[in-house]
Amino acid sequence: LDNGLARTPPMGWMSWTAFYCETDCAKHPDGCINEDLYKAMADQIVIDGYNLVGYKSVHIDDCWSEMERDVNGVLVANKTRFPSGMKKLAKYMHRLGLKFGIYEDYGTKTCAGYPGSYKHEKVDAETFAAWDVDYLKLDGCNIDEDLMPIGYPLMGKELNATGRPIMYSCSWPAYLINHPEKVDYNVIGKHCNTWRNFDDINSSWKSIVSIISYYDKNQDKHIPTHGPGKWHDPDMLVIGNKGITDAMAISQFTIWCIWSAPLIMSNDLRIISENSKVILQNQEAILINQDPLGVMGRLVKNTTDIATYVKQITPSRGNKKSFAFALLNRNEAKSYRKVEISLSAIGLTDPAGYYVHDVWAHADLGLVRPGDSIIVDLEPTASVFFRADVAGIPGHAQRR
Ligand code: GLA
Repeated sequence: LDNGLARTPPMGWMSWTAFYCETDCAKHPDGCINEDLYKAMADQIVIDGYNLVGYKSVHIDDCWSEMERDVNGVLVANKTRFPSGMKKLAKYMHRLGLKFGIYEDYGTKTCAGYPGSYKHEKVDAETFAAWDVDYLKLDGCNIDEDLMPIGYPLMGKELNATGRPIMYSCSWPAYLINHPEKVDYNVIGKHCNTWRNFDDINSSWKSIVSIISYYDKNQDKHIPTHGPGKWHDPDMLVIGNKGITDAMAISQFTIWCIWSAPLIMSNDLRIISENSKVILQNQEAILINQDPLGVMGRLVKNTTDIATYVKQITPSRGNKKSFAFALLNRNEAKSYRKVEISLSAIGLTDPAGYYVHDVWAHADLGLVRPGDSIIVDLEPTASVFFRADVAGIPGHAQRR
């Protein structure tokens, strides 16, 4: 969507996959959907410096409203869980220099059964603007799928009419998984800044791999329709959650960066491990994710367990080319102690060679010629992630 927003993939924090629709605040005072949760996460983003590496928004997900609209048909934040109201919560975020995201559904009800926006598009867009919302995730439960091409553009139009810049995330294609013929990403990209196209993630390797496989299979449709202002969204980062090891965390982060996917964490920032924090804040990886070209990396080589991806990035040296590449071991049980690859085998054939840098080890490998072999270790579920900058004029290669 060409509204000047989301020129690089959005980065932030969203509640769903960590806190779902927990509304029992008596039983779960520190982990229910209420204003304190979002304030605590916003605080933590600042305390731990996530904002300094790019995480800029806090997103409410489902279950924030009253079960009924008010007498004027206006949405109301749940009075016991959001006693200060949404405008105040937005102000809290803005004071910290963060953006404020909210959730709705364009059907009759949200996925969890709260009032949906169907036939209330205008008043809802105006309400969100009046609350100083910066981002809307619009889900697609409880509506006829044939209305998708009407409802999503309609809400987009109403958001635009408010005059407030509101980033627009659509779940449109996610509800058409079984009807790929009805999905036209060129059209979706005209109306939305970002969109979900597959199942919900959960904190498991199986879920991460299922998303990666879906993206691998559909990459020829995804790659040309992805870029500044319009991003395919493989769903939230589950790094820091129970069930996700450091190797899995590195893998999810690597692949999401290779894709230039939105980096929206869903975890408990108050209690995540130091390692998870370091992974989420790897600035070299984030630089690749946020590369201004916004190219979605491509799976260039695939074996039973190991996938290799290459992504073009903005050249770091003059007009020469630069790339990021990654290898992922999808297998949860089988270690690969020695995987040998050459740059030429993944399409990096410049005879001058490439300066290769290991993004996770923060180490230079030096000049690597296209035919040289690079040997990597891949534990179960592990990944390696490199950047490769074409070297200077052949024969005159200079170290950086
Ligand atoms: C759908 C979405 C999730 C979440 C829930 C909320 O399943 O895909 O991301 O927003 O609805 O009910």
